[in-house]
Amino acid sequence: MTICLNTENSSSAADPEATSYHSYFKLLAKISKKIHSNTETLEIIACIVENIVDVMSAKGCIYWILNQQKQIIETRIFHGFDYQSLSRVDYPTLMTIFKKKKTNPICITDARNDTRIPDLERLGKRRISSVTGMFFDITGPLSGLLAVYFTDSRTLAPHELELLTALGEQGAISLEKAMGYDKKTQIMYQQIVEGFALAIEAKDKVTHGHSQRVARLSELTARKMGLEEKKVRQIFQAGILHDIGKIGTQDNLLERLGNLSKKEMSTIRQHPCLGADMLRPLTFFSEIEPLVRHHHELFNGSGYPGGKKGKQIPLGARIITVCDAFETMITGRPHIPKKDLAAALTALKQGVGTRFDPKVVQAFFTMIQENPGIIEARETIASCLDILQQNMVQLAQQNQLAKKLSNPFPGSF
Ligand SMILES: [Fe+2]
Repeated sequence: MTICLNTENSSSAADPEATSYHSYFKLLAKISKKIHSNTETLEIIACIVENIVDVMSAKGCIYWILNQQKQIIETRIFHGFDYQSLSRVDYPTLMTIFKKKKTNPICITDARNDTRIPDLERLGKRRISSVTGMFFDITGPLSGLLAVYFTDSRTLAPHELELLTALGEQGAISLEKAMGYDKKTQIMYQQIVEGFALAIEAKDKVTHGHSQRVARLSELTARKMGLEEKKVRQIFQAGILHDIGKIGTQDNLLERLGNLSKKEMSTIRQHPCLGADMLRPLTFFSEIEPLVRHHHELFNGSGYPGGKKGKQIPLGARIITVCDAFETMITGRPHIPKKDLAAALTALKQGVGTRFDPKVVQAFFTMIQENPGIIEARETIASCLDILQQNMVQLAQQNQLAKKLSNPFPGSF
């Protein structure tokens, strides 16, 4: 963590308030410079909390970023606390301590006996005597909460409150700025993905809409597995882009799939690496590139290009493998007969533990029961419930013992 100011308390003869103002001004100038020099936002906030502890001789300082709509703590940046401390508090407790009022700040002058603070040793209450907190609007449902903690009972002087307000606002401004930038980047990124998606469709007309459907199934499966939204979004994008390497594959090979020589098949099998190599120079695709590269790996290590096994395969790629196989089976290809829903689900089960990650298939099965409209098939999910009700861990053990390796698309790659 970077300390961006060494406070100077050497002039003991000077007016303490004037000295403080001088230190505070230097601190504000430094933080402001960091904001305008595009320093990472969390680094700016780390700098703010660290210096507040320093200039105010506080026990600790925390800047929480709260999502008031979802009622969650998005993140917290703190300085001066031990592992078990007030920094670990959850959202409901935080809202009890700092009940948002129209007027900032919220001052708790006797923390040891204040009923707003739960009597929990783990919150480090015994080491804290007074607390001052302030809310700041960031953007939309997001707000910042800056709190500073003291071991003595302390009421902050007006100039100290001014400093806290100014620094808290600086933190909120830098967050708002970063989020605006993120939004613009995301729009640009989305446009690039859509452009690539059109290019894949133009190249491989046979699989029209396949990438979008795989992306949607993968997104919902990832969310069902409890992955954070950022990861879910990346898996969706990787679902759209998974076959982007086909852009570099000869047209006549794609058209003759199912009727290729060994040599031609090995050319087709280069598409995951071709695709990943196309994305590699674009740094904002760095998290997606491994998912594209490994979407044809199989859970038991018999896939390609790396022969990776189990957890060596990125989770997003394991999710896309299942959704890709399922989507291919229920839509069919010129050289692969279309399967009905029950047959496709059964084929997935036959590959559990060998081709497919059992946990992914389990999540996929739960997801399609919760989103029956996602499947474009004549039969309903309700008619396949007996197929869907199975413990995948047990099934994986059975399949592994039987050394089953179902290939749901014979003649495919
Ligand atoms: Fe592929």
